[in-house]
Amino acid sequence: MPAITLMVNGRRRTVDALPDTPLLWVLRDELKLKGTKYSCGMSECGACTVHLDGAPVRSCVTPVSMAANRSVTTIEALATTKDARLLALQAAWIADEVPQCGYCQPGMLLQAAGLLAKNAHPSDAEIERWMAGNLCRCGTYSRIKRAIRRAAGTEAATQTTEAGHD
Ligand code: FES
Ligand code: FES
Repeated sequence: MPAITLMVNGRRRTVDALPDTPLLWVLRDELKLKGTKYSCGMSECGACTVHLDGAPVRSCVTPVSMAANRSVTTIEALATTKDARLLALQAAWIADEVPQCGYCQPGMLLQAAGLLAKNAHPSDAEIERWMAGNLCRCGTYSRIKRAIRRAAGTEAATQTTEAGHD
């Protein structure tokens, strides 16, 4: 099998994989980064979202060859990030008590981070449009929207105390 080199969370990694192997399986099975989740496997839910060169992609349908010599960021990178925007996003997620079962949340966070990287102060409509393809069976959508607004600094002070009351 060919060797493919990619930068994962700032670290150079080389894997032996067929070029059309989904990036998701390389991350989870070869590199043991289990934070990225598998759900539909068909680009329908967003659970497998990671960043490729800073933009969200669905790793279940992204061939690893597409990530060769490029930068991949997974949810594990958020634990040690110094990026103020990512820190704000995580703080907002905690403040708004977003996760329920948690399964969709790595994808949600990386999708949301992609939005704030493009648009620091998105409107509600822009948040809804951008996040529409990420599905949550626990129904955390309103908390997610609130947390994104909080991270963006657009959540009104009166609304910030309502976490937990969707
Ligand atoms: S598992 Fe990739 S979009 Fe659902
Ligand atoms: S928190 Fe359970 S699926 Fe989203």
